[in-house]
Amino acid sequence: MLIAQLTDTHIRPEGALAYGRVDTARHMEAAVSHILALDPRPDVVVVTGDLTDLDLPQEYARFRALAARLPMPVLPIPGNHDSSAGLLAAFPEVAARAGGPRAHQVVDAFDLSLVMLDSSVPGAAHGALGADGLAFLEAALERGRDRPALVLLHHPPFTTGIAHMDAQNLRDGAALEAILRRHPQVVGLACGHVHRAITTTFAGIAATIAPAPAHVVSLDLSPDGPATFHMEPPALALHLWTGDRLVSHVSQIAAYPGPFPFFDEAGRAIVSAA
Ligand SMILES: [Fe+2]
Repeated sequence: MLIAQLTDTHIRPEGALAYGRVDTARHMEAAVSHILALDPRPDVVVVTGDLTDLDLPQEYARFRALAARLPMPVLPIPGNHDSSAGLLAAFPEVAARAGGPRAHQVVDAFDLSLVMLDSSVPGAAHGALGADGLAFLEAALERGRDRPALVLLHHPPFTTGIAHMDAQNLRDGAALEAILRRHPQVVGLACGHVHRAITTTFAGIAATIAPAPAHVVSLDLSPDGPATFHMEPPALALHLWTGDRLVSHVSQIAAYPGPFPFFDEAGRAIVSAA
């Protein structure tokens, strides 16, 4: 099973740029084309929040129009730039699956169970699962004890060393950790929010932040680093579930030279003529 994780697309209405500078729709278009060109093609695309920049209906509509070329299921959860209500209004199928005011969902259609949590907090940049999110997770993992699961949410529950982002990460990470430790079927935790490829461990399992298809938060590990972004190579995460482990790749959204062979037709390693 192959999962493409697209995150932090920050779509703006037609004619508008994110932060007055980034044509995020063009970047998402490139990301969609990249996913379509992958062989094998991902079974599903998960979108871990900040679909929109300002939670506007026109931004969700534009996101949906850009994602419409994808033939596989596209499964979104909100980030701090979205809202539960905004996302659920724009995605009736998500609202039907969530069945409540927040967008917590379990998708059991694949070999790996996808437990998608809504960590958005109205009007705030930081995240929280809250009592409802934690109860949803606990119940989902109790029901699915015999099925390997990937847990997804926008806000990382761990610090990254990028101070201005760490100030707005998940506030109830300790409660999340306690639940994950009681459920060893969870094989990974996948987040967004920081727009950079980051890996660590959390509750004893691999925890990743997927890179973004457009602007990235600047890599500044000084304690008083300013809130800035860079335009680095756009990318998304590809998570391969092998049946016994989750292997996470970064897939660059660009055309690079290659592929070039290592071996000639006779099977000998290609060596330059000195
Ligand atoms: Fe974001």
